[in-house]
Amino acid sequence: MKPRFLNITSGIKMISALTLLFMLLPMSALAEINIIPLPTRAVEMEGSFVLSPNATIAYTHKSLLPAAEYLREKLRPATGYDLPLRKGKKADIVLSLNPRCEAGAEGYKLTATADGVVIEAAAYRGIVHGIATLRQLLPYQVEASTLQPYVTWRIPAVEIEDAPNFEWRGIMLDPVRHFFTIEETKRLLDAMALYKFSKFHWHLIDSQAWRLEIKQYPLLTDKGAWRDPEKEYWDVRCNKLAEETGNPRMAVPLSGDRTRLHDGVLEYGGYYTQDEVRELVSYAAVRGIDIVPEFDVPGHSYAETQCYPWLSCNDDGRDPICVGKETSLEFCRNVYKEIFDLFPYEYVEIGGDEVNRSAWKTCPRCQQRIKDLELKDEAELQSWFTCTMEKYFNANGKKLIGWDEILEGGVSKSATINWWRGDHTDVVQRSTNGGNEVILCPTTFCYFDYDQDNNTLKALYTGDIVPTDLTEKQLQLIKGMQGNIWGERIPTEAQMQYMVFPRALALAEKAWTPGNQQQWDDFLPRLLKHVDRLQVIGIAQRPLKE
Ligand code: ACM
Ligand code: ZN
Repeated sequence: MKPRFLNITSGIKMISALTLLFMLLPMSALAEINIIPLPTRAVEMEGSFVLSPNATIAYTHKSLLPAAEYLREKLRPATGYDLPLRKGKKADIVLSLNPRCEAGAEGYKLTATADGVVIEAAAYRGIVHGIATLRQLLPYQVEASTLQPYVTWRIPAVEIEDAPNFEWRGIMLDPVRHFFTIEETKRLLDAMALYKFSKFHWHLIDSQAWRLEIKQYPLLTDKGAWRDPEKEYWDVRCNKLAEETGNPRMAVPLSGDRTRLHDGVLEYGGYYTQDEVRELVSYAAVRGIDIVPEFDVPGHSYAETQCYPWLSCNDDGRDPICVGKETSLEFCRNVYKEIFDLFPYEYVEIGGDEVNRSAWKTCPRCQQRIKDLELKDEAELQSWFTCTMEKYFNANGKKLIGWDEILEGGVSKSATINWWRGDHTDVVQRSTNGGNEVILCPTTFCYFDYDQDNNTLKALYTGDIVPTDLTEKQLQLIKGMQGNIWGERIPTEAQMQYMVFPRALALAEKAWTPGNQQQWDDFLPRLLKHVDRLQVIGIAQRPLKE
């Protein structure tokens, strides 16, 4: 079939030819394809396919059954269709695994004609990304959770070849400062999958709470997952803000699963059982997302030192943990071991940020360790701790990621660095010069808990998240980028969605689409088409202008 017009993805040189073509075409034909992130190549064809109640879904290999089920379940509520699944190549929608498909580990080819839709990929992830594109080709009402009886489920005929620029397209969520239930977390993963994010970094443990069941140390959740909200700084602050501004999204929810009555005090909190974690890991995997768990050590450690004071330098329950004690190291290894067993993804995050090392200066055990190992100072002591833990990670088949402070005092080449301190512009140079891979999440662009104004979205989309002073060799070490959702001022799911959407869509495109295809004037009209889609999903997005 002859292409009717080339999509805007074909580059600036095509613009004048396209302008002419656009003038010859009915606008309705042009308005149908608004995919985010922008595919590498898309060619719209004559005609369309209409999904009917008699449609079928086929999958060519048994490993694609979860993807076929996922697609069927996504289509069911709005269409009301219970599309039968069958193994093979004959159906209205075909998911086809083809190891010879040249789109890479996550790429896919989608062909929609009047006869149906074929999604082809070399691996499961590519199929899932093709499903995300297919959903976006359908009318936005397809995202509704209730029957939409008056919609024609038309898919424009199109041929798309697509693959990501960066493998790491992440979102980090902090359920410590405020708790998010498994169901809320699933809804975030769902939205991430629609925009082809690949990594969910789960900041499970920090000073304000311990959120992960650890069988060997039950006190961590029996005690450490709960607190008196009237004594916790951010709870008090959020509730005050909710009252002052009349914004219910800022009120800490003090009901249901998030509370318990303990010794006469209504406590706020919650944690994830290991069964729930396993369920979430599978849920994410079906959607093409790896979960990266974080147990942040040796700082941000009040949750565990309050439960087990012997972890701290003076047995006083303060921060950080004492790395001079063998018992503290053993605790870390034991916790990590349970984490390794729960999370199949090879990367695990050690944290390592903002460590207040002053307690180590006066701790006889920490000082003895420095002396024994002939270290220069406490920064090198942290570096020794990180390297020791990394060896344990590696011995268990895992790879270590840490916040950029792990560079201080030296780091092994095999550690991956999360560049977060936007004002430390030397971090990416230093990391990549040392051979370390880097995930970009600088405060400057990627802190989704930071306040927004009407320029934030454009600043993110047009900003240089990838530093401009890197050589080709250094660029090879950039794994990708992620948005961070810190929870101090985000007590509810609605506030989280308000802070994250729609700017996460800009980040999704920054990470997926090659830089030379990113154009704000092209992105913004496409984004406008996604406002309705997000709304139908039920996401409390920030209006583009407020
Ligand atoms: C961080 O924001 N402390 C990583
Ligand atoms: Zn110590």
